[in-house]
Amino acid sequence: MKKQLIAVSALAVVAVQFAWVETSMSHGDVQPQAVDTEGLEPLPEEIAMENPYRLAGGEQYELAKTIGASAYNSNCARCHGLEAISGGIAPDLRMLEDGEFGDEWYMERVRKGYSQNGAYKMPPFESILSQEAMWAIRSYTENQPRPE
Ligand code: HEC
Repeated sequence: MKKQLIAVSALAVVAVQFAWVETSMSHGDVQPQAVDTEGLEPLPEEIAMENPYRLAGGEQYELAKTIGASAYNSNCARCHGLEAISGGIAPDLRMLEDGEFGDEWYMERVRKGYSQNGAYKMPPFESILSQEAMWAIRSYTENQPRPE
């Protein structure tokens, strides 16, 4: 009898887990996406103050923009808009300042997210995205043409 009960409750736990996975899957955009940054120069642990791929220029910067475009689409677009054109839910990232000042602000927000009254309006990405992926996204958004 006791064994049966345990088996039944174990089943219930599994069922709940499945239900949870299913709901979170059906809202697929809730799942943060891992980003493959192969080919980009690996960065030291310390967070750079300025976009290292822009500083490197050339092929590294071009690759960063490409990787950044897909990383942006799977992690940021649902709030900040497709092609970094904001629909109004969250700020338009094309409007961030150029250069080091914009970089610093960008990194702070992406790593820490933003919460208001204890609720996250933007999740922190520091344990989700690598520093390489974060700078790749910055490389993409800073090259999206600004509105006229
Ligand atoms: C759940 C929605 C959501 C997601 C996902 C999201 N953001 Fe945000 N983000 C926001 C909101 C809301 C703000 C405005 C916070 C504020 O008032 O400063 C914001 C602010 C920012 C800012 C500061 C903009 C400014 O003009 O001050 C940056 C930079 C930023 N987000 C980058 C990103 C990046 C990069 C990603 C993807 C890796 C991302 N966000 C994913 C909602 C989101």
